[in-house]
Formats: sequence, structure tokens, C-alpha cells
Amino acid sequence: MVAQLPLLDGSSIPAIGLGLYKVPPAETGRVVADGLGAGYRLVDGAAMYGNEAEMGAAVREHGMRDAVQVVTKFWGDPEQSYDAALADFAASEERIGLDVVDGYMMHWPRAPRGTYVETWRAFQTLRDEGRVRWIAVASFGEAELQRLFDETGEWPVVNQVESHPWLPQHALRAFHARHGIVTQAWSPLGRGRLLDEPTLVAIADEVDATPAQVVLRWHLQLGGAAVPKSTHARRLAENLVEIAPLSDDAMARIAALESGVRTGTAPEDRP
Ligand code: A2P
Repeated sequence: MVAQLPLLDGSSIPAIGLGLYKVPPAETGRVVADGLGAGYRLVDGAAMYGNEAEMGAAVREHGMRDAVQVVTKFWGDPEQSYDAALADFAASEERIGLDVVDGYMMHWPRAPRGTYVETWRAFQTLRDEGRVRWIAVASFGEAELQRLFDETGEWPVVNQVESHPWLPQHALRAFHARHGIVTQAWSPLGRGRLLDEPTLVAIADEVDATPAQVVLRWHLQLGGAAVPKSTHARRLAENLVEIAPLSDDAMARIAALESGVRTGTAPEDRP
């Protein structure tokens, strides 16, 4: 059973979900079916990933609709606005083919455009209409989160941000914790590039686990959630195994890996 993290709206999400970024559409059905079979209960999609239809079909076919949370995201090109969010959501809803989408996220703040607040109001409309259960954002910084709250009176329940031992995001995590926002990591394994880090390989060896399991345990121990991606059934299952808590010594050695290195786009580079 995957650990659950409480959301501000009183519901919860599994701490580990299945990330679908870079899963080719032709493989998505099989990957989601393998994931649900392994025990994943959250699938993290996005309009931009190009595999929403296959994600929705796989959840429907698996026959466990009520046990699984289906998440998708609003990309925001060519426009990020109230009307564009409503229109794009309608298209996502159609492709996914489920009565309700569990989580809807604003994929990027696109801060220079200054439209994330009006876009957030569209998210609130979708939630109030019952088409989405919970609303969230991705790659937001503190200032943007604060502005959403100041102008709309509502925090997103989740902020999905790039995070892994190279980029632990301590300050943002602390801000989230103060306000009850769940930190959910994208590229939680550093796109797999982190897994050869000698420190992680050594710790994995000491605790008789794999480097991926050590990194995912580190995420849980920071109190966060993560959406690791894999197209391999064996790895999907491996990533769901919650190993015993890491020692303070192991956590300190992982903390020393912080370098600020990103494996994906920085929010300011997505205008
Ligand atoms: P693959 O899809 O071929 O299994 P992130 O979630 O940080 O974006 O990392 C995803 C990358 O890490 C993918 O390249 C994926 O490869 C790889 N990966 C995921 N889980 C594991 C694992 N348990 N062991 C090794 N590589 C993994």
C-alpha cells in the first residue's frame, strides 16, 4: 500500500505516482496497465505529453476507476488565459474520456505573461462545476503561489516542481509545509542520470536496495510526493517498494549532493 499525503481539501494523494512524461503514446496503454497492476494509484499525465487518450483508455480498461487518481495539465500555449484553460480542459476531458478528472495542474506559471491568476480562476470554475476534483500547479515559485492566494484566497493543493538530490528545493518545501501545499517532485530521479552517483550507489548497497529506491525514500523522508517515470514493468514495481527509513547519516550524505543542477527546463525559461 502506497503512503498517502493529505491535501488541503481533505482528500489525499499517493506519495508515489506514475509519471507519463516521455512515455510514447504507443506504449502508454501498456505502461499504465503495468503500473496499475504493480499498485500505482495515481497517473500523472499532461496535454503536452500527447498520451492523454491512451492514459484514459488504460484506466477505463483496468476497471478500477474509483481507486485511481488521473491527473492532467494545462500547457498554456499559444495562450494562457481563463478562456484558453476552459477550452483546453474540455479537449483534455474529451481525450481522457472519464466522467471526472482527479487533478488538474497549471503546467507552468509563465509569469511574464501575468495571466496565471485569471487562469487559476478558470481552474476554480472547473472544480466548482465538478469536472475536476482538485486543482494544483507546477513549477511555481513562492512569489507566484503567494499571489494566487492573495488574489483568490485559495492555495493550490500541490505544487509539482523539479526536485531530486541535486535540486532538493529546501526553501520552497518549507514554504509549502507552512501552507499545507504538497511538494510533488517531477524528474524525481533526475531523469535517471542521478542513479549512477557513487554516494547513492553506496547507500543502496548498504541498505540492500537500488539507487532509485534510495532516492524515492529520500523524497518521502522530506515529506514530499514524487512521480517517477519508467516504461519497464520491473522498474515500475521496484520504484513502488518503500524501503526502511534512511539513517541520518545517509540523509546527510545525500544532502551533500546538492549542486543546483537541473535536468529539465527552469520556470523562467518557459515564458
Ligand atoms: P526507463 O523509462 O527506460 O525505465 P525521472 O522520473 O526522474 O524523469 O527518471 C526517469 C528516467 O529514469 C527514465 O529514463 C527511466 O528509464 C529511468 N528509470 C526509472 N526508474 C528506474 C529504475 N528503477 N532504475 C533505473 N532507471 C530507472
